[in-house]
Amino acid sequence: MPDFFTMLPGETAAEVPPGPMLCSATAAMRRIHRVFLWAYDEAPGLVRTAGPGDTGRASYVGEVLGNFDKLLHVHHEAEDRLMYPKLEEQAPACALHVAQMLEHHRQVADRLAVIEPLRKQWMATADPTARDELATRYADLSELLKVHLRREVTEMMPVADKVLTEQDLAALAKHGTDEFETKVMLAYLGLVLATNPPGEREEFFKDIPAPIRFAYRLVGRRLYRKQYATLFPGREIPATL
Ligand SMILES: [Fe+2]
Repeated sequence: MPDFFTMLPGETAAEVPPGPMLCSATAAMRRIHRVFLWAYDEAPGLVRTAGPGDTGRASYVGEVLGNFDKLLHVHHEAEDRLMYPKLEEQAPACALHVAQMLEHHRQVADRLAVIEPLRKQWMATADPTARDELATRYADLSELLKVHLRREVTEMMPVADKVLTEQDLAALAKHGTDEFETKVMLAYLGLVLATNPPGEREEFFKDIPAPIRFAYRLVGRRLYRKQYATLFPGREIPATL
């Protein structure tokens, strides 16, 4: 199977500046994008698992998806503030590509702004009309992300490898994580590991601060397994670390 992160005919990467690689932004971004691609591919089906009036299920699924929406928003916010200005400043030839990616981010933000009140309304009522509308909105967002999250990796990240330092990359990864409850982050970490192939999982895990790795081993893996089993009853729980 060809790699998902492959350029399609007609697409071109931004011009890569000369000089050594300063960080492994491409590899890191692929690992994070995989969990978002997975989540939004599942989102419409998950929404449809709540029957009319089943507010228990709707509020559970809605909370998990709401956390993903917030994680996606924070991920883009970090890039808008900490990555793109630097790329544009230090590799001016990539300005058109930067503008295109920021436009994708704006399109994602517009969709999330429509999804949020609809999601809350559905969580409170489990109304089937709201459910179907929400599922459609998530499917539309997923289509957009399949383009954006792929193209950001193939077109921009080779530039980021040459412009950002390891410290920049660490700041990017850390941005906004304080806003999330520990249990959300630990279960999410399980999903990042689960949606990455063996080998990549270990690479991702070794870059995580030791106290978080410890907390994951202690409680996070269990939280992830419980959340997965509740979201997808009867499905085999994908392996992590
Ligand atoms: Fe990204």
